[in-house]
Amino acid sequence: MGNNLDIARSGNSLSDVAFKKTKIPAMKKSQRALVIGASSGIGREMALWLAKNDWHVAAVARRENLLQELCAEFPNCMLANFFDANATETIAENLEEIVKQLGGMDLLVISAGTGFLNPELNLPLEQSTIKTNVDGFTAIANWGYHYFKTQGSGQIAAITSVGGLLSTPHGPAYNASKAYQINYLDSLRKKAKKECPAVTVTELRPGSVRTAMMKGEGHFWITSPSDAATIACQAILKKKRLQYISKRWKFIGVLLRMVSLWR
Ligand SMILES: NC(=O)c1ccc[n+]([C@@H]2O[C@H](COP(=O)([O-])OP(=O)(O)OC[C@H]3O[C@@H](n4cnc5c(N)ncnc54)[C@H](OP(=O)(O)O)[C@@H]3O)[C@@H](O)[C@H]2O)c1
Repeated sequence: MGNNLDIARSGNSLSDVAFKKTKIPAMKKSQRALVIGASSGIGREMALWLAKNDWHVAAVARRENLLQELCAEFPNCMLANFFDANATETIAENLEEIVKQLGGMDLLVISAGTGFLNPELNLPLEQSTIKTNVDGFTAIANWGYHYFKTQGSGQIAAITSVGGLLSTPHGPAYNASKAYQINYLDSLRKKAKKECPAVTVTELRPGSVRTAMMKGEGHFWITSPSDAATIACQAILKKKRLQYISKRWKFIGVLLRMVSLWR
């Protein structure tokens, strides 16, 4: 689950605060990834993993200082851009511009997400979660699908949550938004199979990862962000349909599916 700054930060667009950290040199044949939500947590570690493994990476999110620190680690193959998933009207235009700077895109990673412990069922917190995890997510995934369909190939990899298989009283919008993402990705995959079979969709479904998002108590089977990124990126390279993070969470996933069928 995320933090309250998310609400205050929304509303900016690339045109307001765009910056470019490095120019990526032209290469003969290289893999290019756009990682959305790369300033911290799993997305940050995935961007690093990809850069270490010879990908050219555009790392985007709202906290520019963190992105600049990240890109300083691999100045020749990473660029940083401000991007706000809540600015839904300008998402396509902003991502188009970032991909132009990157020199193309083979992989779109959607790690951006938010969520709150919301025992009072505070409506603005619920709406903030929906804005990022549903509206922003849909605008990004939709843009990515069209981009790859036009290109004839590519991969969308998005981080959902085991929480999308559950309902809990702690923050209903978070669980509901993750259920939405799971279904949306599954539907996109079916659409791609018909319309553009060389476009793949990988769902990355974490249980508990030690990041700012992991709020509250009673967590178990906790994975470090770097281990989570390794599992995620290996699944991406294998073009897997679904990957639990860590793998043992598959057991919980199957159990929850069975319970929901019996109810
Ligand atoms: N940690 C867990 O236990 C866990 C479990 C299941 C699923 N997940 C999912 O994993 C994903 C990554 O979260 P995390 O655990 O790595 O937590 P995190 O460290 O809080 O990372 C969240 C990332 O999303 C970005 N983000 C949030 N709102 C954004 C917006 N409006 N526009 C652009 N970027 C935005 C943040 O960047 P800025 O704030 O700089 O914009 C940050 O880079 C989320 O989708 C989360 O739901 C996490």
